[in-house]
Amino acid sequence: MKAVAVKAFGGPDGLAVVDLPDPAPGAGEVLVDTEAIGVDGGDALIRKGALAEFGFAVGYVPGGEVAGVVSAVGDGVDASWLGRRVWAFTGLGGGYATRVAVPTTAVVPLPAGLSAVDAVTLGNPGTVGHFALRHARFTPGESVLVRGAAGGLGTVAVQLAVLAGAAAVAVTSSSAERGDRLRELGATHVLDRVGGGGGPAGYDVIVDVVAGGDLPLFFDKLNPNGRLVAVGLVGGHPPADFGTAVFAAFQRSLSFATFSANTVPEADRRAVTADQFAAADRGELRAVVHEVLPLAEAAAAHRELDAGRVFGRLVLTA
Ligand SMILES: NC(=O)c1ccc[n+]([C@@H]2O[C@H](COP(=O)([O-])OP(=O)(O)OC[C@H]3O[C@@H](n4cnc5c(N)ncnc54)[C@H](OP(=O)(O)O)[C@@H]3O)[C@@H](O)[C@H]2O)c1
Repeated sequence: MKAVAVKAFGGPDGLAVVDLPDPAPGAGEVLVDTEAIGVDGGDALIRKGALAEFGFAVGYVPGGEVAGVVSAVGDGVDASWLGRRVWAFTGLGGGYATRVAVPTTAVVPLPAGLSAVDAVTLGNPGTVGHFALRHARFTPGESVLVRGAAGGLGTVAVQLAVLAGAAAVAVTSSSAERGDRLRELGATHVLDRVGGGGGPAGYDVIVDVVAGGDLPLFFDKLNPNGRLVAVGLVGGHPPADFGTAVFAAFQRSLSFATFSANTVPEADRRAVTADQFAAADRGELRAVVHEVLPLAEAAAAHRELDAGRVFGRLVLTA
């Protein structure tokens, strides 16, 4: 099969098309012939070497989710899976490939009306958005800020906050044009990257995709008892003295947390993803697709990400 691997950590040109042996589905697994692959800002961070502390090695195949058709089943798997259109969670990698073998516990069947491209646009970002709001103990009527809302995660998180009954959903964005597109998804206030430009005086919940040097500025925008949940670090790590900002706000009882979808139990992930796919099929949730490129052009996709040009999700097709 064809795959795209990191041959050298750094720029997008370190990504190369490689031939790998076809995976064989093991016990409890299905083989998925890939149609669409979700490209995440996190894939670019790994390719840059920014997450080296997690042990990614040369030869690493990025890609946390695919959608396609089940073409073979392993021992103990019902033959009724054969030919089914499915979405599959591939975890920390392996998705940039024309075939993947995954446990049935990582697979969600697609509703008839949902395309493979839309499925990989909503899949993992939807999990992060849903469980990040839950991690933040969000309740209807609270105000939410999604920081770094223009990407794959943010465009889903904004919609989920609106659907969950947020009183206000503010976003940060680098341009008025992106702000307008985020308003179409339900954002009520558009702020600049440092949180200027109006909006509520404070927020009950902040879902933060960015982190970086400005994180303390946003922590300071929480209402008393507010919760900031970091779900990404596209802006890099927070300053070393971030803990000082947390303690400086001691008397406002603020909470800071990280959230990784890795901690979501598989059955919960499947249930939420199936619900969100059904909502998308009914037209209640929009998959915001930036561009669809062939798998062989993964490096071009990463150049788009690095240039900050992506609004919504980039998708590769096999
Ligand atoms: N928690 C989890 O389980 C989980 C799962 C998957 C991925 N992730 C993480 O999520 C992130 C990727 O999400 P994504 O694909 O949605 O992000 P993305 O598209 O790479 O970036 C989101 C937005 O952040 C803004 N931004 C970029 N750099 C910035 C900076 N230096 N300062 C302020 N804003 C900046 C940009 O919007 P504007 O130009 O409009 O400001 C950009 O569109 C990665 O950090 C990845 O590791 C987490």
